[in-house]
Amino acid sequence: MTRIVHLSDLHFGYHRADLVAPLLDRINGAGADLVVVTGDLTHRARAAQFRMARDFLSRIAPPVMAVAGNHDVPLYNLPVRLLAPYCGYRRAVSPALAPLRQVGPVCVLGLNSVDPLAVQKGRIRRADLRRLTAGLDGGAMNVVALHHPLEHLPAVDKDLPRNATQALARIERAGAQVVLSGHLHVWATDAMLEQTAHPGLLQIQAGTALCARPSDRQNEFAVLQFDGPVIHIERHIAPMAEAGFRPPIHERFSRQGGIWRAHQPPETPIVPGATETAFSTA
Ligand SMILES: [Fe+2]
Ligand SMILES: [Fe+2]
Repeated sequence: MTRIVHLSDLHFGYHRADLVAPLLDRINGAGADLVVVTGDLTHRARAAQFRMARDFLSRIAPPVMAVAGNHDVPLYNLPVRLLAPYCGYRRAVSPALAPLRQVGPVCVLGLNSVDPLAVQKGRIRRADLRRLTAGLDGGAMNVVALHHPLEHLPAVDKDLPRNATQALARIERAGAQVVLSGHLHVWATDAMLEQTAHPGLLQIQAGTALCARPSDRQNEFAVLQFDGPVIHIERHIAPMAEAGFRPPIHERFSRQGGIWRAHQPPETPIVPGATETAFSTA
């Protein structure tokens, strides 16, 4: 049994300061073997924001691995954006843009989906994809972690990353079983599984763990428990109007014959309307 905390979109600099301590308490009390952060650790990639992110990560007890998000490269400082887009991220978070961690029977492989030449839209580079698929472990549950989702629900009005469709097919064909992402600030897992043409991949799209943008309606993170072919998910949700996290709600998925199935009713937002408002930014 392996437990992984999945966090995304912390947005330090535009974050809920009141939620930092409750979030750290929940993370450190989760009995996790690993914490995976799928990007947007800062809001504008400023030095002070990276310091806040680094301080937060240093207070997490289990090992942490992270990938960058579009907000982790400078938006307005064009020389840095073009010449050294990841300098702040590498200094504060991780020198590696595509880290890999093995925790028991689970192998987590990072994939950098950020395109410093674009504002929001991501990009999957073919060379990165080649490296990632070469690193898959045939005997493990392979989990790919990146910032941008590789598939969107119909309500989303943003573009997918360049090469997303090909990447999704290739990742599934190569034998990965799970994809973790963030970026849209809206949880989607069950709904994604219902619509996807790639049911061999469980795509877990996290909400935002700390962003203070009111239209996000709620902050949340998830604990994923890997138990053979079964993944139990605990969603820890803090509505914007509340000071802390509610008791977790549970979802369960299992994989048989190379296909994932859900074992609970489709998820509903704990705050009415929460899944309808946040698609257009992030
Ligand atoms: Fe993002
Ligand atoms: Fe974000």
